[in-house]
Amino acid sequence: MATARPRLIERVTEPSLMDFAAEVRAGLSKPAQKELPSQYLYDEVGSALFEAICLLPEYGLSRAGARLLREHSAEIIDRLPLPVIVAELGSGSGSKTRSILEALATRQPVRYFPIDISRMALSRCWQELGHIDSVSMVGFERAYQDGLLEVAARRESGERLLVLFLGSTIGNFDRPAGEDFLRAVRRVLLPGDALLLATDLEKPVPQLVEAYDDSAGVTAAFNLNMLAHINQALGGDFNLRSFEHSVRWNGSERRIEMHLRSTEDQTVKLARAGFSCRLRAGETIWTESSHKYNCAEVVAMGERAGYRCDAQWVDAEWPFAQSLFIAI
Ligand code: AVI
Repeated sequence: MATARPRLIERVTEPSLMDFAAEVRAGLSKPAQKELPSQYLYDEVGSALFEAICLLPEYGLSRAGARLLREHSAEIIDRLPLPVIVAELGSGSGSKTRSILEALATRQPVRYFPIDISRMALSRCWQELGHIDSVSMVGFERAYQDGLLEVAARRESGERLLVLFLGSTIGNFDRPAGEDFLRAVRRVLLPGDALLLATDLEKPVPQLVEAYDDSAGVTAAFNLNMLAHINQALGGDFNLRSFEHSVRWNGSERRIEMHLRSTEDQTVKLARAGFSCRLRAGETIWTESSHKYNCAEVVAMGERAGYRCDAQWVDAEWPFAQSLFIAI
């Protein structure tokens, strides 16, 4: 007999092809350094490759974040004013979130709202977290800010909001944009609401370069797949075999940069964007930045954005911080 399924995903919005085409055109038209927005790394294949990256021995970020949550979830929950509802920005498959939801569920029934632009990620999140006792879940297939507004509108009187921004995704913003993002989240919060923010910390450069240029070539495939995504969405003719993955540490900006290097002079056409672009042999397209922080600057950034830092936990094996901010 068929059983009624809870509604998993609210308010589906398709990303606009016009925006996609305009962003790709603008990025590939830059005279000095061509670039493509890192969000386009995540089509179905890209999201699966990212899940694989999280399992690689060289990429310690995800394991460090999960370890910190396993070890400190009970303490994090003890520090929150209850009851809270939980919104997660960029939930991905949700695997890192289980310990926090389980700890909270020992104290109150939990309403959990993952927000992700990927419907597939939300489905996996449902499989991973949709069956925990005392946890109800509604996913929002939305951009972060839109989803967060929807969640905030659902809070009932007396309920606080806990926002989870795990996985160090803030590192993929430039530093000023990261701080602006924290400010934008703060505008949706009320005083006393909380933000749990994960940041990857600075560590020796060879270790960082290996984390983004693993020996099995999974990160290389993740990076190259962006071109396949663009081909598929915009009718492009990028030949993935004439590009190679390139990773560099930018010491002045304290970030890892991923690039795709053209191995030959070539012209690429994007039929659906009505655009073509020439690349010289050796020229690169910059596809992602991953900024690395130190503990004090994370606290200072949160304070400038309208929070106080209630506590911070740092992993002993792989420098990585979880910071609990309270909106003031
Ligand atoms: C999602 N984000 C935090 C990852 C990072 O480490 O910057 C994306 C990634 N790029 C290459 N490997 C992982």
